[in-house]
Amino acid sequence: MNIFSWDGSTVLMLFCGSDAVNQRGTDIDKDILSRQQQHWECVFSINASMFGEDPSSPARWAARLLKEEGKTKVLELGFGQGRDTLFFAMNGFDVTALDYCEKGIKSLKEKASESSVSGSVTPMQHDVRNRLPFEDGTFDACYSHMLYCMPLTISELRSLSAEVRRVLKPGGLNIFTTRHTNDPQYGTGIHRGEDMWEIQGGFIVHFLSREKVDLLSEGHDVLDITEFKEGELPKKLYRVTLRKKS
Ligand SMILES: C[S@@+](CC[C@H](N)C(=O)[O-])C[C@H]1O[C@@H](n2cnc3c(N)ncnc32)[C@H](O)[C@@H]1O
Repeated sequence: MNIFSWDGSTVLMLFCGSDAVNQRGTDIDKDILSRQQQHWECVFSINASMFGEDPSSPARWAARLLKEEGKTKVLELGFGQGRDTLFFAMNGFDVTALDYCEKGIKSLKEKASESSVSGSVTPMQHDVRNRLPFEDGTFDACYSHMLYCMPLTISELRSLSAEVRRVLKPGGLNIFTTRHTNDPQYGTGIHRGEDMWEIQGGFIVHFLSREKVDLLSEGHDVLDITEFKEGELPKKLYRVTLRKKS
């Protein structure tokens, strides 16, 4: 470990216990995948705005589409520290925001209060590997930025997609983004099974192929799949927009 290069990843390696080297393996160890929850808690405790304060480009895009369609009741999955949640709330949407990280919930509550949008934001701690805690047909839309590329197996992702479909109203939209297999960090670090890699900083990322995105679109009309980039690496992602079939 090079302690003299004091960049973000070195900070994470020192404080959050990562030391990724190139290795290959094949088996999925669910305990290792589950420990990512503590990793996110740790990361959020040393960085109050890991992804910045500004809304992401897919959030801006989604807000335009949702407004055009008159959709207001939104479920957000894996909101992190709430950069997109606050943007949606400030733009008139009613957002139920889920993440399994307690630090993120606390941070979102504080930020929503500071921005006077607490009435439009309902933060909930929930692990998306479990059934979503809502009645059928509750939401106009579901939005998630980089939740589908978390360490969820393809079987868990298929269950999640079915759950999202269940809680959407007929004609509801599922807009999600995911890093994909042409991302520069795909195949780097420690292999954790399927297309999951523990990359620099100790994050396990599931890089989805186009075939996997197609699998997750079952039961929906595919409105749009667009490639985009984010950040300095840059990360390479798909933005996927699905409509629940009536
Ligand atoms: C890459 S971050 C993206 C955060 C946010 N969407 C953004 O773009 O700023 C992924 C988020 O998903 C959450 N997450 C990962 N796995 C999860 C799971 N199984 N259930 C709920 N949240 C999860 C993490 O805690 C983290 O906040």
